[in-house]
Amino acid sequence: MSWDPAIYNRFKSERAKPFYDLLALIHNREYVDVIDLGCGTGELTKQLADEMLKARVLGIDSSVQMLNASSVFGNSRLRFEQKSIEAQIGSAAKWDLVFSNAALQWVENHSETFPKIISSLNPGGQLLVQIPSQHHNLTNKLLKRLSDRDSFRTLLPSGISNSPVLELEEYAALLFARGCKALTIFEKIYPVVVPGIRELFEWVSGTAIIPYLENLPQELHGQFNDEFEQLLQENFDVNPVFYPFKRIIISGIF
Ligand SMILES: C[S@@+](CC[C@H](N)C(=O)[O-])C[C@H]1O[C@@H](n2cnc3c(N)ncnc32)[C@H](O)[C@@H]1O
Repeated sequence: MSWDPAIYNRFKSERAKPFYDLLALIHNREYVDVIDLGCGTGELTKQLADEMLKARVLGIDSSVQMLNASSVFGNSRLRFEQKSIEAQIGSAAKWDLVFSNAALQWVENHSETFPKIISSLNPGGQLLVQIPSQHHNLTNKLLKRLSDRDSFRTLLPSGISNSPVLELEEYAALLFARGCKALTIFEKIYPVVVPGIRELFEWVSGTAIIPYLENLPQELHGQFNDEFEQLLQENFDVNPVFYPFKRIIISGIF
């Protein structure tokens, strides 16, 4: 997918808030082998590495555009690789901490993905993940509604709006079944407060809208964007716009 770090970073401080909640949940700051799945620009991976002074941290991401921005953050304890999460979790490498902020929602089939990730943990290791509650958030539902319209439906892959994100109870059961010894799972609202619909549209442009535009011909991008902005207008009718965006935080120690 074509990620644009400049667009993504427009709401940098809002997007970083759940990252700090994850940092607060790190079980053992002496962990050595640490991986950040879907590290993006690497700016937050650098903060993760700075928190864990004994750690050797690897950030992986499939996007060249996002990783280009990471070159300034690498050091003797922090390196980055262009790699997909799917390829990484299929490898034999083992980790003390598998960390991932706002990336696993892009990976299909969490019932298979999470067990693979868990099996890459060393004994005593931790899985620490944040994913948006895509299946409940209104902007995702509006994108789905829009993609079902005649002008777009036949051009988009079927199932494009199906989120892989599971319910909290399902993650809890899945982790418990794989031997999780200490489990923390909760959903939290991270309010997005922006002056108007244009800014809300820009906020979604940094992430969730990307796969839709990638699958539509360039000449339909304007129409898709305009109709999406119209849907936002109809559903968020007060200024400033308040969007109670929900995210899932998962911590498991194994
Ligand atoms: C919303 S950004 C989060 C970036 C970073 N973790 C942060 O908190 O700023 C999602 C990142 O996941 C990456 N990504 C999405 N699907 C991926 C996949 N299948 N494999 C590797 N990276 C992926 C994207 O390239 C993007 O950089």
